[in-house]
Amino acid sequence: MIILGIESSCDETSAAVVKDGRRLLSNVVNSQVDIHAAYGGVVPEVAARSHIEVINPVIHQAMEEAGVSWDDIDAVAVANAPGLIGSLLVGTLAARTLAELHNKPLYPVHHVEGHIYANFIVEQTEHPVSSRSVTSVSDTKSEEQPETQSRRETVSETERNRKGDLKLPSSQPVFPMLALAVSGLHSQLVLFEDHGKYRLLGETLDDAVGEAFDKVARMLGLPYPGGPSIAQAAEHGDLKKYVLPKAKLKSPYDFSFSGLKTAVLRAVQREAGVDHTFASSGLPERLNESQKADFAASFQYIAVKTLVDATVKATQEFQPASVVIAGGVAANQELRHQLSERLPLSIEYAPVNLCTDNAAMIAALGYYQAQVLSPTPVDNVSVYPSLSMSQTAWNS
Ligand code: KG4
Ligand code: ZN
Repeated sequence: MIILGIESSCDETSAAVVKDGRRLLSNVVNSQVDIHAAYGGVVPEVAARSHIEVINPVIHQAMEEAGVSWDDIDAVAVANAPGLIGSLLVGTLAARTLAELHNKPLYPVHHVEGHIYANFIVEQTEHPVSSRSVTSVSDTKSEEQPETQSRRETVSETERNRKGDLKLPSSQPVFPMLALAVSGLHSQLVLFEDHGKYRLLGETLDDAVGEAFDKVARMLGLPYPGGPSIAQAAEHGDLKKYVLPKAKLKSPYDFSFSGLKTAVLRAVQREAGVDHTFASSGLPERLNESQKADFAASFQYIAVKTLVDATVKATQEFQPASVVIAGGVAANQELRHQLSERLPLSIEYAPVNLCTDNAAMIAALGYYQAQVLSPTPVDNVSVYPSLSMSQTAWNS
């Protein structure tokens, strides 16, 4: 069964073609990172407009790279929740229109659950393509978008990816499966008994861990998105230089990152020789590169340790047959390092470009939903900016 997946919940426009929930035929991602970097974060209106500009060429390119026509596509899956409402609307309306036009079943899927299904992609075509951006998009570029330089860079990245294989896990995860889903909006531990049968063990009570990476990066004057910037700066830093607190909560499976973020702010203010009323925007210029690297390393170490402590404890208590990590923060090498060291069972990781937002994971999840559930009538597929995983199509 061949599924076309569509993803536009935040600031990446993506379309992918996946066979039988495991074989990647194509995955095209048009990232808006360069556009939002100028603002230090995602601007919802700008994101929605950019999705509109590229959604059609992205879908077209995904099908072309997979070598499929509409006759070959068995169903369409789209991430319709959670996310930015304007962004979700673009992908969802495109999916609805195409499903109606080509008479294909439509499966709305949950974005965070989709992240977890990146781990089910274990095969790829001989010349797999997991491309960033699309060459044809530059034709549709609006005059208001300034950066021709970054546009050129994303196109050359397409070329680079085209040459190299993705390093995929050797086999699919087995149930019961423990999933740590960590992104810019979510931090959750979920225990899966089977496809669609899961329970939430814990989640963040305030900021998501990716959000904490992004905010700390801003305090240190590191570029957006903060996760990769912190990881890069941390490579040259001393993770023991600053002792930062780990939140103590009632449930061992819940998370809290707001206190950690404030603790970093206070420590940075102390180091910069200013008091707690000093605005965070003025801090980066008072720190040298080595102090920034030490803060990045110390923050990353404790944020990751928090995630790993909970995952290890849940593994001991629930004895899953497999553990997976998912979401943008799953790209973090320190997280992979600490988990591999401490988990009592071996773990495989999805390639980094299937951890950050992409449509391949949406198509993979769509396949497993299609094995069990009826498609949703096109007119009933709405968008839900803050839907929990316990309210998805599996549970209705
Ligand atoms: O899943 P994702 O691409 O989008 C959301 O659904 O939120 O996750 C984005 C988040 C951002 O907060 C970003 O800073 C973080 O993932 N991230 C990372 C890394 N790469 C992306 N965090 C830590 N280390 C990384 N290497
Ligand atoms: Zn995501």
